[in-house]
Amino acid sequence: MTPKTTLYMIEERATVEAAKAAFDGEFEKFDDQPTLNGEDAGALLSEVGTLRVRHTGKKSLLAEAKKLIGKVSPEQRGEFGQFVQSVERSIVERLDAAENRLKAAVLEAKTEAERIDVTIPGRRVKRGTLHPITIVRQRIEEIFVSMGYSIEDDREIETDYYNFDALNIPEGHPARESQDTFYTTDGFALRSQTSTVQIRAMERRGVPIRIIAPGKVFRRDTPDMTHVPMFHQIEGLCVDKGITMAHLKGTVTEWLKRLFGEDTVTRFRPSYFPFTEPSAEFDFSCFKCHGTGKLDGERCRPCKGSGWIELGGSGMVHPNVLKACGVDPTVYSGFAFGFGLERMAALMYSIDDIRHLFENDVRFLEQFG
Ligand code: DAH
Repeated sequence: MTPKTTLYMIEERATVEAAKAAFDGEFEKFDDQPTLNGEDAGALLSEVGTLRVRHTGKKSLLAEAKKLIGKVSPEQRGEFGQFVQSVERSIVERLDAAENRLKAAVLEAKTEAERIDVTIPGRRVKRGTLHPITIVRQRIEEIFVSMGYSIEDDREIETDYYNFDALNIPEGHPARESQDTFYTTDGFALRSQTSTVQIRAMERRGVPIRIIAPGKVFRRDTPDMTHVPMFHQIEGLCVDKGITMAHLKGTVTEWLKRLFGEDTVTRFRPSYFPFTEPSAEFDFSCFKCHGTGKLDGERCRPCKGSGWIELGGSGMVHPNVLKACGVDPTVYSGFAFGFGLERMAALMYSIDDIRHLFENDVRFLEQFG
């Protein structure tokens, strides 16, 4: 802005012009700014602060020019004063405008960074699935609970007494050999069968008793398609007055019918177990081919064409076992049975290699939930 009359001194005017020119030179880049990211805007904002001090502060040319107002002659003072003020106003306005723009850019960047999109679907907690062994175990537990049995759980580390002696397997008995398990250095063994729970349960609850005991058992087997060194069994025990082999057969047949269907039939083959007398292995008619051994004209796979699936061992509880638990075998009798869950799960879900059950590959495990 150039006043119409330039009565005041050239030098004073030059100081104001110099202040304006110095500011213009440095401030040019702020006048037309592209869209900025938050970081750049922040840096420029502090630069504007520096320019404000440099061009309007106490040591600025503008401050010097303002001091000159008092020095020019009274007639010239009004006009010169206005000139200085207009330059100052223009500088301050431009600083303010740039500062506001940059502050807005910083704020916008901050808001953008902190923005929450409430429409984005939440991250779902992935739902797990039940392990096939758990599914089979729970189904069998439900059946037994509905038949008046309770579920026993007991320790996996046992003494020789519970693992063998109390089950009528004395030292030197060949059954100890085949059940070779894992031993600790201080004489404990990982149980090789859930039959140990027969003893524990009778000691704890006395008789009459009706229990099933699902749990882990251990054997020194090299893993292959049908063997793993840790697997699961379910043990059953029923002791009361007047219990006979007929109760055993009825019970085993009933739970298998409930699991595999009403047309399921069972078969008991004489066998030997140290803790039962008489003893029998039990089979049930194949749930795939319904005992025919044929499926779509082909040999049925689960039963290998025999029509039967061998499941477990059973028998009438040996009098020595009852005695070991303080139960009088002349008053009480009972039956027991035991079977493995892995083979059952493998048959039910067509799993060709039971090692899959323990490799914890979720792609495998997810299929059963
Ligand atoms: N414990 C036996 C095993 O591991 C299975 C078994 C057989 C359990 C006969 C019993 C039984 O209760 O009476 O092979």
